[in-house]
Amino acid sequence: MAGRNFLFVPGPSNVPDRVLRAMTVAMEDHRSARFPELSLACLKGLQRLFRTENGTPMIFPSSGTGCWEAALTNCLNPGDRVLAARFGQFSHLWIDMCQRLGFEVELLEEEWGTGASPERYRAALAADKGHSIKAVLVCQNETATGVTSDVAAIRAAIDETRHPALLFVDSVSALASIDFRMDEWGVDVCVSGSQKGLMLPAGLGITCVSVRALDAAKSARSRRCYFDYADMAQALRTGYFPYTPSIPLLHGLRESLTMLFEEGLEQVFTRHHYLAAGARAAVQDGWRLKLCARAPHWHSDTVSAVMLPEGVDGAKIIAHAFRRYNLALGAGLSKVAGKLFRIGHLGDLNELMLLGAIAGAEMAMLDAGVKVEPGSGVAAAGSYWRAHAAPAGLAG
Ligand SMILES: Cc1ncc(COP(=O)(O)O)c(C=O)c1O
Repeated sequence: MAGRNFLFVPGPSNVPDRVLRAMTVAMEDHRSARFPELSLACLKGLQRLFRTENGTPMIFPSSGTGCWEAALTNCLNPGDRVLAARFGQFSHLWIDMCQRLGFEVELLEEEWGTGASPERYRAALAADKGHSIKAVLVCQNETATGVTSDVAAIRAAIDETRHPALLFVDSVSALASIDFRMDEWGVDVCVSGSQKGLMLPAGLGITCVSVRALDAAKSARSRRCYFDYADMAQALRTGYFPYTPSIPLLHGLRESLTMLFEEGLEQVFTRHHYLAAGARAAVQDGWRLKLCARAPHWHSDTVSAVMLPEGVDGAKIIAHAFRRYNLALGAGLSKVAGKLFRIGHLGDLNELMLLGAIAGAEMAMLDAGVKVEPGSGVAAAGSYWRAHAAPAGLAG
């Protein structure tokens, strides 16, 4: 098909040309004297991105899922109890992993479209007088439903109950797009990946581990090998990896971090909010459809999940958008399969790119007989953006 594919899934996101060019490199010796220049620059940038002074950033050759597993197997003992809320496919998958690895999960079941309830976390921790819960898990941005949870409020719940559990946060679809603060929020392990806010191909599991979590790892007896924090931390201190890293991805990471800091992290978050608000205007004011996120405080600035009217098959709309308009939208997963489609609005993006996705989604819905007013999504998003000052990263 002529023209570019419009990639609007919530990860992998578009890779900027600068990052693509940075990744076009000849292979080199990852044990050479020069290699640490590259790896240490990446780690220094990640420390700044995670907003941590003493946390240890690590890069695993995996995706985010590998870092989920690393957090659990490095910091916990076999059979340990963890506390976790489930409100979408990704929070579900992390819980499922806990269970498959033999950890006991105290489950806080929430409606999909809502998120982590600090009150329920607080109550569960307060009831755990014997401190049998060893880790608190929270998914900062549930990509399946477009819901962002308040990690600082979960930290406050832990502190108010004076509970010693570690705090593990999945920031796979939030880091580098939505505010994240490792030290200020007292996060012990943050889990992320390369293919979303970091604007890279998938392939790097990006994580950051607190001093407390590294201490816990010293005595935790769960089996691990490839994902061992101690091996990785020891090698990374000198700028080397315990095994062969992907050199092009590291070049890409250095460039993407440079781009994020050139724009400024606050500006990056503001840009994501501004673009997301335009997408939400298209959905709610233009198409008069509902978001899966039930209330504004759950709205995600990286992905909007659009509920379709009863009887409309979301999977067909997504397939049609792809075949007919070269537009990739995110599918409804598990419980919401067929009921919604998702527009990813994260990473290297501006208003007109997002308008293309909104127009394409609208045409695909019209073709499927969904009663939306032609042009209404584009008009509503455009009105929002014209009425609001553009963040620095967008205005020339
Ligand atoms: C919130 C969240 N957590 C975890 C994952 C799994 O990450 P990966 O696919 O990089 O293994 C994803 C993937 O989309 C996600 O969105």
